[in-house]
Amino acid sequence: MTTHVPAQPVTHPLAPSTSAPLLSPAGAGTARPDDAPPAPTHETGSVAAARARSLELEDQIAQDPSAFRVLTGERPTGALHIGHYFGTVANRARLQQAGVELLLVLADYQVITDRDETGDLRGTVREILLDYQAAGIDPERTTIFTHSAVPALNQLVLPFLSLVSVAELERNPTVKDEVRAGGGRAMSGLMLTYPVHQAADILFCHANLVPVGQDQLPHLETTRALARRFNHRFSPARPYFTEPDALLAPSPTILGHDGAKMSKSRGNSLLISATEDETAAFVRRCVTDADRHVTYEPERRPGVANLLTLASLCTGKTPEAVADEIGARGAGALKALVTEALVEYFRPVRARRTALTESTVDPLSLLERGNARANQIADSTLDDVRELMGTSYT
Ligand code: TRP
Repeated sequence: MTTHVPAQPVTHPLAPSTSAPLLSPAGAGTARPDDAPPAPTHETGSVAAARARSLELEDQIAQDPSAFRVLTGERPTGALHIGHYFGTVANRARLQQAGVELLLVLADYQVITDRDETGDLRGTVREILLDYQAAGIDPERTTIFTHSAVPALNQLVLPFLSLVSVAELERNPTVKDEVRAGGGRAMSGLMLTYPVHQAADILFCHANLVPVGQDQLPHLETTRALARRFNHRFSPARPYFTEPDALLAPSPTILGHDGAKMSKSRGNSLLISATEDETAAFVRRCVTDADRHVTYEPERRPGVANLLTLASLCTGKTPEAVADEIGARGAGALKALVTEALVEYFRPVRARRTALTESTVDPLSLLERGNARANQIADSTLDDVRELMGTSYT
């Protein structure tokens, strides 16, 4: 493979000039970096605990990155947007850069949890592979694979299903939210068992670290419970599966131009691959309010705050400092600043993506290596599991 653009280190925007841990230690009682967003005020105890734990983990990563294997990924439902970038993708590139082993699953089977059609999967997966590389993920170092290409991973779901009750699955808050968001769509068995599938994704490769957003914490709890129960039932003498830790995403939620959470399906997003014109058009459409004096007040003025957050992520200044800079010059001046900041910040990302698009190498060919490696790991895990369950006959 000679034609892909070498990944350049991506500095996560929340840590533009330091090597300090990225996580805003919200709720952890320690000083937070100046440019981190304020801690949400209404966190539950378990989220605060996960944040505190994440800080400890960041320290351990800095000391010994080789002690960690990270698995994370996404459902390939569309090209990636800047919410993905600031929320997870830049953080993955940072972990890779720090020397942590990284596996990324493109969970294609899971696309049909909340919809009937898979869409143009080949096209979508191709776009995501370009986005990954443009953002600094190096397919030579990071194992990128598609779910459906790894049968042994999916077979782990069978024993795992025996270790969880329907009542427990029905209580999962993220599954409930997703069902609610589905607007009357009947819950499928695939949706109900989603946390079990995700557990198989994580446990097949013995990942011990999973970077996630808050909404994924319940799934990780299921994963930990399944690891424990499997060990208890089938490998009591020596725990076989490790219980993975969540590494909470450092970044705030990015809103789309309509003021709702940025999402592919809402069509309110700015893609990583956006041109300068598309970036300007997105910012122009972003909702603000009638108050000309720009202030950073996320609760009261979410639209303005979102623009300030974007400016902050791209420039390394605090949202408050950006607000002061604009003062009474109004939303127009703020939008001009944000457009400029986004265009500049993503310039190298865009350049790498363009170079990759112009190359004759089909991005899908990267999956050969990733899928082969994922299969090798999954086959070995399934062999062990068969051994432990007594289903090895030859
Ligand atoms: N559930 C994740 C999402 O909807 C995608 C995903 C699938 C995932 N398998 C995973 C994330 C394993 C972390 C670990 O975005």
